[in-house]
Amino acid sequence: MPAQTPTDATVTDLVADATAAPSMHNTQPWRFRYGRGSGTLKLRADFERRLPEADPANRALHVGCGAALLNLRVSAAHHGLTTAATLLPEPADPVLLASVRLSVPPAHDGAPAGDSGDDSGAGPGDAGLRPLYPAIAKRHTSRYPFDDQPVPDDVRARLVAAARAEGAELVFLVEPHLETVLDLIRDAEGYDRGDPAREAEREHWTWFSKTDAPADGIPDYAFGPRDASERATNRDFAGSRPMPDRARVRFERNPQLALLSTSDDRPADWLRAGQALERVLLAATLDEVSTSFANQPLEWPDLRWVLRDPVHGAGNPQMIIRMGYGPTGPRTPRRALERVLTFEP
Ligand SMILES: Cc1cc2nc3c(=O)[nH]c(=O)nc-3n(C[C@H](O)[C@H](O)[C@H](O)COP(=O)(O)O)c2cc1C
Repeated sequence: MPAQTPTDATVTDLVADATAAPSMHNTQPWRFRYGRGSGTLKLRADFERRLPEADPANRALHVGCGAALLNLRVSAAHHGLTTAATLLPEPADPVLLASVRLSVPPAHDGAPAGDSGDDSGAGPGDAGLRPLYPAIAKRHTSRYPFDDQPVPDDVRARLVAAARAEGAELVFLVEPHLETVLDLIRDAEGYDRGDPAREAEREHWTWFSKTDAPADGIPDYAFGPRDASERATNRDFAGSRPMPDRARVRFERNPQLALLSTSDDRPADWLRAGQALERVLLAATLDEVSTSFANQPLEWPDLRWVLRDPVHGAGNPQMIIRMGYGPTGPRTPRRALERVLTFEP
């Protein structure tokens, strides 16, 4: 008997979970196409949502799509589905990023196989994804100050393992590398401020909720307070626009930063980095660790290479993640599912 394929309603649930993923400036640069006959969900890049100034090579775009793919795999595991995901970016068809075959495994003893606790039919690395499911809806970027409580070693070890399970490396930064990276973040923020085209792009993707009802981009309620320390570990989405009611507070004295990197730097590696990123973020959320990003130096080629870890060396830096204990951050908007999901026979 051929494997059963999931219903349209289940596929819609999976894509709703996928689109809860983070994306640079909340551009949500993804589209999903489900072939009912083959049970195959295709993840495609939406290049109309690219950021030509800050992300000319589409690296960050692929990272966001990889994060959506990880959520999709977690959601499929939660729904008891078997998945086989293939990363597909090819120069001949750069829009098609991944294909995920979805099937409903045969039931055992009347119970859906997905409830049996056996992940053996899932795609590579999918064992252990199901417990991450509750974190999909809880994870948000938190641009708030964290307290100075260190993330304990056992939690750090879980996050390092989460990145490794997706083929990436996560390194918690220590002195003197940490201070170098903090300097690079501040330098990059200065470069950004001096670049009118980037400033215009950032403004284009930010919204003021009193006047706008956005479906994408970053609304003012997600900017967080202004950082009085001028360290720029919180990318300031208000830019130079006046926000008289916005608090100005001191962020943590000792930021806890982790660098996510991959061994190569091609589109498939960026998708891998995105999956690793989201696996780390979901695991952190389950451990009550809040997260945000300070990726500014990744967006300037001359600074990106200086970010490399002097001890572990050769990796290609993909994300700078700030972690700690503090507010979780608000939920930000997402586009309606009918704009991102289509069904085919
Ligand atoms: C590749 C990538 C780069 C990002 N860079 C930053 C950043 O430098 N600073 C920041 O505050 N948020 C950054 N973000 C977070 C996005 O702004 C955030 O995911 C988006 O606004 C949606 O909000 P949410 O994460 O709360 O769902 C980045 C996200 C991705 C995937």
